[in-house]
Order: sequence, then C-alpha cells, then structure tokens
Amino acid sequence: MSDSSNMPMQTPQDLFVHELSSAHSAEQIVVKMLEEAQGLVQNPELKEGLRMHAEQSREQAQRLEQIFQQLGAEPHPVQCHSAQGLHQELQDALQAQPAPEVVEGLVVAGTCKTEHLEIAAYTGLVEKAQAMGQTEAVQLLQQSLQEEQQMLQRVEQISQQLTQQMAGMQSA
Ligand SMILES: [Fe+2]
Repeated sequence: MSDSSNMPMQTPQDLFVHELSSAHSAEQIVVKMLEEAQGLVQNPELKEGLRMHAEQSREQAQRLEQIFQQLGAEPHPVQCHSAQGLHQELQDALQAQPAPEVVEGLVVAGTCKTEHLEIAAYTGLVEKAQAMGQTEAVQLLQQSLQEEQQMLQRVEQISQQLTQQMAGMQSA
C-alpha cells in the first residue's frame, strides 16, 4: 500500500486522521501477529494473553472506525511500517527454527515492542482528541490505551518468568 503523501495534510484534524489511520493499520497487523504467535507457543498464560489481546485489538480497530465515523473522515491509506517491521522481524527469526523456549522468548519480545509502539500512538491520539474537544474519541482512545498498558504489564511479567527459566536451564 502506498503512503499518505497524496492526502492533504494541512490542519490539526488531518494530522489526527493520519495518526488514527496509522493506529488502525497497526491494529490490523497486530491482530495477525498475535494470532500467528498464539499457535506457536506452549506456555498457557502466554497463549491465553495472546488470544485475549487479539480479541481486544479487533475491538480497538473498531473503536478507531467509530472515531472516523464521528469525524465524518475517511481513513488515510497509511501503512504502519513500525508494526509491520516488528511482525516481519518475528517471522524472519522464526525461519531459523528456534528451540521452543526461544520461540516463546521471541514472541514475548515482539509483543512487548508492539505494545510500547501502540502505547505511544494512543498517548498521542488521546492528547490530540483532548485538544480538539472530541470527548467521545478521548474516551474510546483512553480505553484502548488502558488495554495496551495492561497487556504490556502482563507480557512483561511473562518475559521475566521466561528469562528466569532460561537462566536456570543454562546453569543446570
Ligand atoms: Fe492494540
């Protein structure tokens, strides 16, 4: 998909729509990434976390669509290259036939990075929606931001457990 260089970008609303479009693209990539990852991991807590967040991410994409409707704006044809790059990086690493615990480590690292990216995106979007007086959009975006923060916390805990397990394996 091409970038949005042919879209008019003159006003704060244009900027807001661009950032919303980027977040929408990221959500679609993240859903794909989480669904693929779910099938690759054994750790039940991680598997469940990925499943649950794939579902949440679909709802987050719908919230963004709701905001486009409220604004009467069409999404810009933006591709979130950052999310796409993280997805690609994970796919490339999995080609190297890693051991099962390394697969889980790769999935956890990739998920942590996408959550940081999405937290940054939603923080900026909440700020813009507040400045524009878009009260309903603020609420929807804050809800997604909170879910991303909770998912990051959850996956960081799993990351610590996996790292400790792997350190134990190395010293055994
Ligand atoms: Fe998300």
